[in-house]
Amino acid sequence: MSKNSKENNLLIQAAFKVLKNSHSPHSKFKVGAALLSSKGKIYSGTNIEFDAYSLTVCAERSALFNAISSGEKKFTKIAIATNSGEFKFPCGLCRQALVEFNPDIEIILLTKNKKSKKIILKELLPEYFKL
Ligand code: THU
Repeated sequence: MSKNSKENNLLIQAAFKVLKNSHSPHSKFKVGAALLSSKGKIYSGTNIEFDAYSLTVCAERSALFNAISSGEKKFTKIAIATNSGEFKFPCGLCRQALVEFNPDIEIILLTKNKKSKKIILKELLPEYFKL
């Protein structure tokens, strides 16, 4: 198996593992995200919902906050797993948050049955805000 496929498999496993921790009593929509840093480390995060709905944090930003808090700033890939049978693309806020670190990050979308689709972030957010 190539280094790339091994990396992808580990990242995908991490996304499904953290999805189990999703705190989504309101939407019941579970998301797990796993970011791969350029040093080869994986940082994961899940979506967290609150009774005060607007406090909700998406899985992608949870993973990003986790990585940044650990001192990482360079990322090459992110795997995003959900409990849906359809491909679900990251929301606008998460696209903007991720693009600031790497517009060329590879996104691996995963359905609950582990069907996968790859896309580059820049394709989802071609004209993005940057200071
Ligand atoms: N959600 C994510 O975790 N990532 C996205 O990109 C879109 C939405 C979460 C937020 C909320 O907990 C649930 O999915 C339904 O919106």
